[in-house]
Amino acid sequence: MYQRIVNRTCRLGIEDCPVDLVEPDIFFAPGAEGEKRLLRKEAAEKIEQMFETAKKEKIMLAGVSGYRSYERQKQIYETSVKDKGMEHTSRFIAPPGASEHQTGLAMDVSCESEGYELEETFASTKEGIWLRKNASLFGFIIRYPKGKEGITGYDYEPWHIRYVTPSFAFYLTKLNVTLEEYQKIIAHVPFQNASE
Ligand code: DAL
Ligand code: ZN
Repeated sequence: MYQRIVNRTCRLGIEDCPVDLVEPDIFFAPGAEGEKRLLRKEAAEKIEQMFETAKKEKIMLAGVSGYRSYERQKQIYETSVKDKGMEHTSRFIAPPGASEHQTGLAMDVSCESEGYELEETFASTKEGIWLRKNASLFGFIIRYPKGKEGITGYDYEPWHIRYVTPSFAFYLTKLNVTLEEYQKIIAHVPFQNASE
């Protein structure tokens, strides 16, 4: 289900793996190899359309990191805790089972001028501005927006896009509503802070 919320409160299991993962025909950053290139089929088709449209407008987006298994997220999380500490890790890296990358519906995107790194400065590049403005047309949301850190439980990530379908992405983006807020306000599900 493309609208499914995945966060620290609503986690996936170690066995959860999408069945329709494919490699989209898009430009990938150097080092983006193997399962990092994968997305679920519908998200892959939409990201191809998005990158193609961007290219026609001379905006060269690069895929950096898509699907991650539970085990891979566990490695990333544990390495980050060891190298950067818990405080920094909790701001940027989801614990295993809590990452949208495990759904196969999320892709981290960057560009050459950023050295294909995932930094907040991506937001003010022409590619980052284009992505923020156009992602919803292709069914993606900027999942961790600026100003919603207390709600999503993560710092601003202008590079992390999540596929939710075009109609739902349009709605969430237009109303400036995160999936957590949608869950609380629209679906009347009791709200728990995602960072808890
Ligand atoms: N950077 C996001 C929160 C993740 O690790 O899934
Ligand atoms: Zn991400």
